[in-house]
Amino acid sequence: MTDLSTPTLATPLFPAANADRAAPATGHIRVEQLRVVFGRGANATLAVDDASIEVKPGEFVSIIGPSGCGKSTLLNVVAGFVAPTAGSSTVDGKPTDKPGADRGMVFQQYSLFPWLTVRKNVEFGLRQQGLPLSRREQMARTLLGLAGLLAFENHYPDQLSGGMRQRVGIVRALATSPQVLLMDEPFGALDAQTRQVMQQILTNMWQRFKLSVLFITHDIDESIYLSDRVYVMTARPGRIKAEIPIDLPRPRTPEIAFTPEFLALKQQLRALISAESLLAMGGELKDGGLEGFELSVGEKGVGDLL
Ligand SMILES: Nc1ncnc2c1ncn2[C@@H]1O[C@H](COP(=O)(O)OP(=O)(O)OP(=O)(O)O)[C@@H](O)[C@H]1O
Ligand SMILES: [Mg+2]
Repeated sequence: MTDLSTPTLATPLFPAANADRAAPATGHIRVEQLRVVFGRGANATLAVDDASIEVKPGEFVSIIGPSGCGKSTLLNVVAGFVAPTAGSSTVDGKPTDKPGADRGMVFQQYSLFPWLTVRKNVEFGLRQQGLPLSRREQMARTLLGLAGLLAFENHYPDQLSGGMRQRVGIVRALATSPQVLLMDEPFGALDAQTRQVMQQILTNMWQRFKLSVLFITHDIDESIYLSDRVYVMTARPGRIKAEIPIDLPRPRTPEIAFTPEFLALKQQLRALISAESLLAMGGELKDGGLEGFELSVGEKGVGDLL
């Protein structure tokens, strides 16, 4: 029987997993003094205010912060879906004023085309780039093989589990060889076990492709496990409250979560986020006309309860 998982190629399409981790030259994200206001007049919402972040080429950087603080807005500015009201966003010095093939995007909700098979979903961006059919198929099948999905290439998205769909989403975002991968809570809807496997797959892909990743999550453990650096945002309007370097050795395995270094980082991040989550919840309750409603969480922060 033919082994479909390892297509033989005259020249490798993608770098090998053990290729050295010398920093790539491209994929430099810079967001400077970003301010985003939605709406006008009495309905105006200041979503992000004076936020500056940087992702160096090949870096894995997470943003963590309370619900509604402007994380998705910031990411959407880098993706080119939202325009800054003030400040700037660039990738390799070019303003991110529209979406581009240099930036792959993975959303929380599986955003596959339901009427296309898994392989056709992966091929979609390649078709837009004008690649011939045989080359598209070859690239899609190689990538699907790397993600352990080749056996499902002819399935439709609704025939896959949530974890598999999200793996296809990642593969699709990688297909056009972006320098930057933008991920908005991609594993938020997955159970803990699947999430762990997905984190491993993502780390492997990141190392293999030498991408810069900007990753949004609510999950403190996830942010530490995956990242080189973590930015903590304040409650809305989102500003950058802290920048925490994650100097844990790589490759990382799930057991790293039990080390004193990991636990110390977790405690530090939890303290920073709990205060902001309380502020965010307080604001929402007031905005919703529930002034006077007392939220008592005892010694625990809201961040612990969520
Ligand atoms: N298109 C829009 N029009 C108007 N307001 C918006 C729009 N998008 C976001 N907002 C507002 O901007 C603020 C920040 O929203 P955003 O989605 O960036 O938060 P978030 O940090 O991603 O939240 P969550 O963690 O819940 O996903 C919110 O108050 C939201 O209501
Ligand atoms: Mg969001």
